[in-house]
Amino acid sequence: MSTTLRTYIQILVRYVRPQWRRAASLSALLFGSIGLQLYNPQVLRHFIDTATAGGEVRALAGAALLFIGVALANQLISVTATCVSENLAWATTNTLREDLALHCLQLDMPFHKSHTPGEMIERIDGDVTALASFFSQFVIHLLGSALLLSGILAVMWRVDWRVGVAMTLYAATSLGAMLAMRTMVVPYWAASRHAAAEFTGFLVERLSGIEDIRANGAVPYVLRRFFELMRERLHRDRRATLVSTLMWFAFIALIAAGMALSFVLSAHLYRAGLISLGTAYVIFHYTQMMGRPFNMLSRQMEVLQKAGAGIERIVRILGLQPAVADGGKARLGAGPLAVEFRDVCFSYDGGEKVLDRVSFHLEPGKVLGLLGRTGSGKTTIARLLSRLYDPDSGQVLVGGVDIRAVPLAELRRRIGVVTQDVQLFQASVRDNLTFFDPGIGDARILEVL
Ligand SMILES: Nc1ncnc2c1ncn2[C@@H]1O[C@H](COP(=O)(O)OP(=O)(O)OP(=O)(O)O)[C@@H](O)[C@H]1O
Ligand SMILES: [Mg+2]
Repeated sequence: MSTTLRTYIQILVRYVRPQWRRAASLSALLFGSIGLQLYNPQVLRHFIDTATAGGEVRALAGAALLFIGVALANQLISVTATCVSENLAWATTNTLREDLALHCLQLDMPFHKSHTPGEMIERIDGDVTALASFFSQFVIHLLGSALLLSGILAVMWRVDWRVGVAMTLYAATSLGAMLAMRTMVVPYWAASRHAAAEFTGFLVERLSGIEDIRANGAVPYVLRRFFELMRERLHRDRRATLVSTLMWFAFIALIAAGMALSFVLSAHLYRAGLISLGTAYVIFHYTQMMGRPFNMLSRQMEVLQKAGAGIERIVRILGLQPAVADGGKARLGAGPLAVEFRDVCFSYDGGEKVLDRVSFHLEPGKVLGLLGRTGSGKTTIARLLSRLYDPDSGQVLVGGVDIRAVPLAELRRRIGVVTQDVQLFQASVRDNLTFFDPGIGDARILEVL
């Protein structure tokens, strides 16, 4: 648990630190709002006590205006805080999305063979979105709620020690109960999200295989599976929503119990002449306010649990290192380059040998056609040449230089690959021809065409 917590904190610090100004202004706004929330009931108390004592209308109007002013200021602060927090969430998560997308593009082919595009979408966008509230609110709201709750309890203790004792006990029990209930709900939502991910995976896979599906008349079969997955999602979502609603009822019941407690207490104290009517009202009002930090604290626990799964998956992906290391410094000479394979042995994932001590030499500017049965290793030779994989033993040389000594970007700039399946990108014909290289002129394109 402690290492997990440390990972969370590391991620939090790494991505929030560059945004510290936003985080600081958000904390300032929230703490300001807490202060106002704690202060406003005091204005009410003053109002009620002045009114019951038959005070002047002008004093009452002043108190009323102050109350409205404080409430409005609090709303204004809330709106600003929401805006800042949204900015913070997007700024941090976009940086994380960028890091993840770049990292995934650099990972080896075996990684991409074993992870579907749908899964990558979930990691780079879905998981990261789930992290947004963790980045923008978690610490601030956790501290804020704790502070608001302590503030409320402190005021209660100042009013009367009996009220203080009763309300502290009430707060401790309710908070415990609420956290326990939240924990109960989480597995239901996890199951619902899992069903959603499965559905996305299904859609992406089937849509990319649409030609095979239609050509083989498998459309009804695919649709049947589609309906099954939809039904599963419905069931799980309904169950999760139901459990959440029940929990909400329990939450309301707890708040109501607290208010009943505050009514009984203040009635007794008022009758004994220990507190004024205004104070009795203030006790009631603060009890009602306790709902907010309760709700917020248990929600932050949920945020943490939701973020947890995402963070673990993200950290695991970020921790993967490509086996094809990019450390070389050598340059390739200008003009046509010679290609040489020296005793190259290669197997995919340590399996059967696909290439067994292959050697050949190709002079610069010469053309070589490779003929062979399907599965004999032609594509594999091309993959080794562009360093999508490294050989198990032996050397691949281009222009007399071992390609492991050449920077990957340099190597791939000099070696062109046209694969068997045509991949068109959503871009202009020109971009598809030049592979987004603006440096290639019209004359060259026309010549090639
Ligand atoms: N990504 C991979 N993971 C594991 N094994 C692979 C992978 N790609 C190819 N192989 C295996 O390596 C061997 C050589 O495959 P390769 O694709 O290089 O053959 P090829 O000569 O290009 O065939 P074709 O004429 O069908 O294009 C085959 O046995 C194939 O099953
Ligand atoms: Mg091939």
